[in-house]
Amino acid sequence: MSSSVNLETQDAGTVRLTYGDQEIELPVVEGSEGERGIDISVLRGTTGLVTLDEGFVNTGSTRSAVTFLDGEKGILRYRGYPIEDLAKHCDFVEVAYLLIHGELPSPAEAANFRSGIRHHTMIHEDMRSFYNGFPRDAHPMAILSSVVGALSTFYQDSMQVDDPDQVEISIYRLLAKLPTIAAYAYKKSIGQPFMYPNNDLDYCENFLHMMFATPAHDHLVDPDFAEALNLLLIVHADHEQNCSTSTVRMVGSSNANLFASISAGIGALWGPLHGGANEACVNMLEKIAADGGNVKKYVDMAKDKNSSFRLMGFGHRVYKNFDPRAQIIRACCDKLLAKLNIDDPLFHVAQELQDVALEDEYFVERKLYPNVDFYSGVIYRAMGIPVQMFTVLFSLGRLPGWIAHWKELHATPGKRIYRPRQIYTGQNERTVVPIENR
Ligand code: ACO
Repeated sequence: MSSSVNLETQDAGTVRLTYGDQEIELPVVEGSEGERGIDISVLRGTTGLVTLDEGFVNTGSTRSAVTFLDGEKGILRYRGYPIEDLAKHCDFVEVAYLLIHGELPSPAEAANFRSGIRHHTMIHEDMRSFYNGFPRDAHPMAILSSVVGALSTFYQDSMQVDDPDQVEISIYRLLAKLPTIAAYAYKKSIGQPFMYPNNDLDYCENFLHMMFATPAHDHLVDPDFAEALNLLLIVHADHEQNCSTSTVRMVGSSNANLFASISAGIGALWGPLHGGANEACVNMLEKIAADGGNVKKYVDMAKDKNSSFRLMGFGHRVYKNFDPRAQIIRACCDKLLAKLNIDDPLFHVAQELQDVALEDEYFVERKLYPNVDFYSGVIYRAMGIPVQMFTVLFSLGRLPGWIAHWKELHATPGKRIYRPRQIYTGQNERTVVPIENR
């Protein structure tokens, strides 16, 4: 497929590993922001040892030029641009272009990209009938993942992973159709007719139109909601090698097509420890509010090692200081609620929870701060988005990041299938006893 990308690292010396009477020197590579990693690719071949890192807490799975984040300093940059600058100066479609193509678009490139997306916003009429088969209470993430997977049944003309033209058209189809697929999942759940996309509207307005208009009643999209959605999609657009992106890369590494890879990524994002946390967070806030707003009780429960309860929307594998995305969203949340004069009791619970948790030794010691999902739910609620759709909106935001990583993977010289090793802990060899003797 397309030209290869610059994934060069600097030589940063070696480390010497001694094990028994074996000694080996392993190269250390350094990335453009000074991060260093030991290249262990020859370790097993020369010593028979593999590395063990459950949960990939300390494993760099790839070199990547898409997103830089520094969890200690709370830095997040897409293609070198700070997330705060992008949120201030760009819309989501420009950010999608940046992630996928590596540079911000010129006005002509942006116009061309937008028009390419607009051209593909409708889904095949036969695909609409898929929705009849889903139960009405199906989770929209399950529908999203299924319908995106099914794109490969409709667009068999664009599945060659090594054909740049086919990949390009698949990218347009995904960016254009995901909002339509998502809005239809919602319409299905409430029994309303599906609304065709309106290509006179921009990306976020069009999504809100498909969510809230009906054939009997046009919906005037509130510009504040469209602006808030645009911001939320931008801050969710990429986050380097997170669980769903690693899934997209893992599936893509077998040369599975882009639709199949993204469908798998949607499945990974659904989990409550990942993108599903925004839904879980609002459910938790609702529960606390319904329980009289006793925040301390829930904080104590989160600290209790005999309880499996965790404060949803708190903590992050990488951010151990603050989550810059949470800061941007928090400001947007304050602005939106003040402007619309919304007094959401959940917001008060959220505020109180944050205050209690941030002062509590347990959370301070473990560096557990509110993450991106903590406030996004309150904004979505203000916009009238139902809770089950929260992670679906996260998917819309994350799509360009998934695509960028899938493309980068395929442009990597010497790309190989992802295939981790393991330390086997099962039974040693034993003999099968025939069933009549067991
Ligand atoms: N509430 C209470 N305690 C917590 C929380 C929490 N939300 N998060 C972590 N801890 C505690 C753990 O119990 C553990 O304590 P210990 O050292 O005494 O055993 C310590 O903090 C470290 O936690 P780990 O689970 O080891 O941290 P890990 O990096 O593996 O997990 C995760 C990160 C999954 C985000 C975790 O913090 C969590 O479950 N948070 C709640 C779910 C959530 O908000 N997820 C969204 C993440 S953002 C995203 O994906 C977009």
